[in-house]
Amino acid sequence: MRPLSSRLEALQESSTMAVANRVRELAAQGRDIVGLQTGDPDFITPAHIIEAGHRALLAGDTHYPPARGTKALLEAIAAKLERENDVRVKPTQIIATPGGKWAIYLALAALLEPGDEVILPEPAWVSYRPMIASFGGRTAGVPTSSSDGYVLTADALRAALTPRTKALLVNSPSNPHGHVFTRAEFDAIAEFVLANDLWLISDEIYERITFDGRQHLSFAADARVADRTILVNGFSKTYAMTGWRLGYLAAPPPVVDLALRLQSQAVTSASTVAMAAGVAALSGPQDCVAEMVAAYDDRRRYFVGALRDIGLPCPDVEGAFYVFTPTPREWPGGSDAFARELLDVAGVATVPGGAFGPAGEGHVRATLATSMAELERAAERIRAFVRQRVGSPA
Ligand SMILES: Cc1ncc(COP(=O)(O)O)c(C=O)c1O
Repeated sequence: MRPLSSRLEALQESSTMAVANRVRELAAQGRDIVGLQTGDPDFITPAHIIEAGHRALLAGDTHYPPARGTKALLEAIAAKLERENDVRVKPTQIIATPGGKWAIYLALAALLEPGDEVILPEPAWVSYRPMIASFGGRTAGVPTSSSDGYVLTADALRAALTPRTKALLVNSPSNPHGHVFTRAEFDAIAEFVLANDLWLISDEIYERITFDGRQHLSFAADARVADRTILVNGFSKTYAMTGWRLGYLAAPPPVVDLALRLQSQAVTSASTVAMAAGVAALSGPQDCVAEMVAAYDDRRRYFVGALRDIGLPCPDVEGAFYVFTPTPREWPGGSDAFARELLDVAGVATVPGGAFGPAGEGHVRATLATSMAELERAAERIRAFVRQRVGSPA
């Protein structure tokens, strides 16, 4: 047989999927696992959003939509961006996509030539590096650290710059560590992008999930970089709509033009039912979002406190819905081994920090998108596991 694509052979399976597969294996053996590995809210999509999708289908909205998205959804997104983010774009600068993930893929597809480099502050979401590699691009990781709150500095960005740098990809609030850019970081990033003639991809999928009064800032609202920013967002996290597969990008017209060509040739569009539901999500009551964020807030307070009590020096969570905690230093085999043994021995599934780039080593990520009861069960098991293996100050 002739060989398959070497570019795809080089792609790693997503580590979160790998953990999910191991959880399924253990569950099939009858093991009781507390699953803290996914970023999939435990909430069901709010009823008024489901009903809007249902109504649209019954009304016969079952045909191919325009590749860019339905007029109603594009207008609802444009209105939302203006209302909540101070971003002024025409509906023609927006593409509704099957998931925020595909919006990021389209953005990279529109920007990258083989050999181009993308600067990526790390630890970062597991899919950025493989997506960049799939276009023959190179990731220039900029390490940030829990010891200084994952703050990104202009010096660190400058150190990653080369003549091949094409873009900077940022994600605030961040998956996995939750850091929300301060105004000073935001300004440093905007100045850096402008001074070095870069594109900026801003993944804002966790924008509504911030704590302690922190405010999310959108680069597409900033006059310095609005014309070089590709804003990516989606419905999965804010509205608990992971299974609907709906996201979007808003970008300058030349980027939208190229991205739309790929979307229309590769997947046609997002689905009509998801887009009808998306209109209801953006235009309907928002108290459902506040309720879910309040639940994540309670859970992060509880779980961060529980981990500290166990002796894991877990930093505060500023946004998104994950806890990214350092593992015990003396653990043989590091955080990979810690996560593996925590799952195999104690039945608690987390994602090892190395999956989020080299700067993530020495940590594990646990989701807060699960019930308080599950977090309590997890804390109990982690306490017993750590105490048995290394002794605990708790
Ligand atoms: C940082 C980040 N960006 C984008 C996505 C993509 O989400 P979706 O494709 O469900 O919209 C995720 C999902 O986990 C994420 O964590």
